[in-house]
Amino acid sequence: MDAFDLSTIFVLIFSLILTAILYQNHSSKNTKLPPGSFGWPVLGETIEFLFSKPEKFVNDRMNKYSPDIFKTRIMGEKTAVICGPSGHKFIFSNEEKLFTAFRTHSMQRIFRSYQSKHPSPSFAPPPSQSTRVIRQPGFLKPEALARYLGKMDSITKELLQSHWEGKNEIKTYPFAKILTLTLANRFFLGSTNNSERIAKLVNYFDDITSGLHAMILNVPGTAFHQANKAAIAVRRELIGVIKDKKEEIANGVKMQDILCHMIVVKDSNGKLMGENEIADKIMGLLVAGYSTVATTIAFLMKYVGERPDIYEKIFTEQKEIALAKKAGELLEWEDMQKMKYSWNVICETMRLTPPLQGTFREVLTDFTYAGYTIPKGWKVYWTTSSTNKNPAYFQDPEEFDPSRYEKGDGPTPYTYVPFGGGPRMCPGKEYARLAILTFLHNVIMQYKWELLVPNEKIVGDMMPTPEKGLPIRLHKY
Ligand code: HEM
Repeated sequence: MDAFDLSTIFVLIFSLILTAILYQNHSSKNTKLPPGSFGWPVLGETIEFLFSKPEKFVNDRMNKYSPDIFKTRIMGEKTAVICGPSGHKFIFSNEEKLFTAFRTHSMQRIFRSYQSKHPSPSFAPPPSQSTRVIRQPGFLKPEALARYLGKMDSITKELLQSHWEGKNEIKTYPFAKILTLTLANRFFLGSTNNSERIAKLVNYFDDITSGLHAMILNVPGTAFHQANKAAIAVRRELIGVIKDKKEEIANGVKMQDILCHMIVVKDSNGKLMGENEIADKIMGLLVAGYSTVATTIAFLMKYVGERPDIYEKIFTEQKEIALAKKAGELLEWEDMQKMKYSWNVICETMRLTPPLQGTFREVLTDFTYAGYTIPKGWKVYWTTSSTNKNPAYFQDPEEFDPSRYEKGDGPTPYTYVPFGGGPRMCPGKEYARLAILTFLHNVIMQYKWELLVPNEKIVGDMMPTPEKGLPIRLHKY
C-alpha cells in the first residue's frame, strides 16, 4: 500500500468520525431527551429493574428526574418510562401511531415465531396481526365466555373436590396454577384433563414464566436456559395436540376451541397457519393467562385470609347468589354480574400485587412528550407501579380497601390499569374475571381458612410469588 492510499484512508476515517460527531451534536441540540440515566455500559439499569421492587425502581426515578417521564436502559434497550395517568392515557391512545408492541429479547427468543416470521429481532407484529386470531373470532368475548361458564364452574368444583376435600392444610399457589392450567387446557386446547399432564405443564410454564424477564444467558443452570428448554418441550407437546386435532377435524368432528380456530383460519392470501406458528401463538396465550390468574388467586386468598370482615362481606354476597339457585345448578352469566363486591376485592388484590407490572412498546417515529423528545427506535415502558400505590390517586395506598372502587366513580381514570388499556388491552380480561370469581364463589361457599405463614415473604419481583406457596389451614362448613 503506497503513501497515497494511506492518506486517502486516513482522510476518509477522519471525515467519517467528524460527520458522526457533528451529527450527534446537531441531533442533541435539536432534541431534549428525557432526564435519567442509561446506567452501566451494556447492562444499563437492568439489574436494578429486574431485582429491586418494581415500584421502588419507578418511584425513585420519578422523584429524582420527573413524575412524567425518565430515560433508562433496560433489557438492552434505550427506554423512556412514561408515568402517571396522563402517561398511560398517552400510550393507550397512540398505539400503532407513535409506537407498536415490543417483546423483550428474552421473550422473542422463547416465543420464536416473532423472530422467524419477521427478520428484525425487535419487530413485534401490530395487534391487528399478532392477536387478531385471538381477539377477532370472539372466543374471549362475553357472549362466548357465557357458554363456557357452566363448564368452568364444574371443573373448579371437581378440582376443589380432588385437591382440598378431606385435607386440613393445602398450598394455595400450586393449586391456583393447577386450576389455571386445567381451565386453559380445556378451553384453549379443547383437551380433556389429565392430572399427570397438567402437573408436567405446570413445571414447564413455571420455567417459561421465570425466563421471560431473565438476562439472555443460554447456559445450563440459568433461568433463560431452563425457559428455552421448557418452551421446546411445550412446543413439541402442542405440535402433537395440533396433529391430533387436524385428524379429528378431517374426520368431521365438530370442535369449538381456540386451537381449532387457529388450525382452520386462513390469512388474506388464503394460507393456513403453520404448525409451529400455531404452537407459539397458543403458548403465548397460555403463558399470558397462567401466572397472572394464578398469582391473583393466591394473593386473593392471602388478603381475604387476613381480613375476616372482608371474608364476611364476600360470603354474604355469594350466599345470596347460591341461595337463589336450585341444588346442583351451575353458575350463569347473570350470577357473575351480581358479584360486585367480590370483584372489588379481586381488583384491590391486583392493585396491591399487580400480576403484570407493565409492558414495552417500540417507538415508530420521533415524538415529544412532557417537553422531551423520544427518538424513533427507542422503547417505551408503561407500568402499573407509577400509579397503583400513589397516595395522590389512592388514599392510604397500602391499605387493603375494596370499598375504594365503590366511592363516587371509583379511581381516577388511567390510575388503575391492571389489564392495560386501549387497543392492546388484555384480551383475557373477561376470561380472567370469570375464572377468579368462579373460584372465589366455590371456595367461600365451602371453606373458611387461616394463613399458616402470616407475612409470608414475596419473592420474584417482576412476577410476585409467595415463597412458601401460601399454605392455609382449611375449615370446611
Ligand atoms: C388477572 C389476570 C390478567 C392480568 C392482570 C393481565 C394483564 C395484562 C396486561 C397488563 C397486558 C398488556 C397490555 C398492554 O401491553 O398494554 C396483557 C396482555 C395480554 N394478555 Fe393478559 N392479563 C391477565 C390474564 C390473561 C388471560 C387469562 C389471558 C388469556 C386468556 C391473557 C392474554 C393476554 C394476551 C394474549 C395479551 C397480549 C395482547 C397484545 O399484545 O395485544 N391475559 N395482559
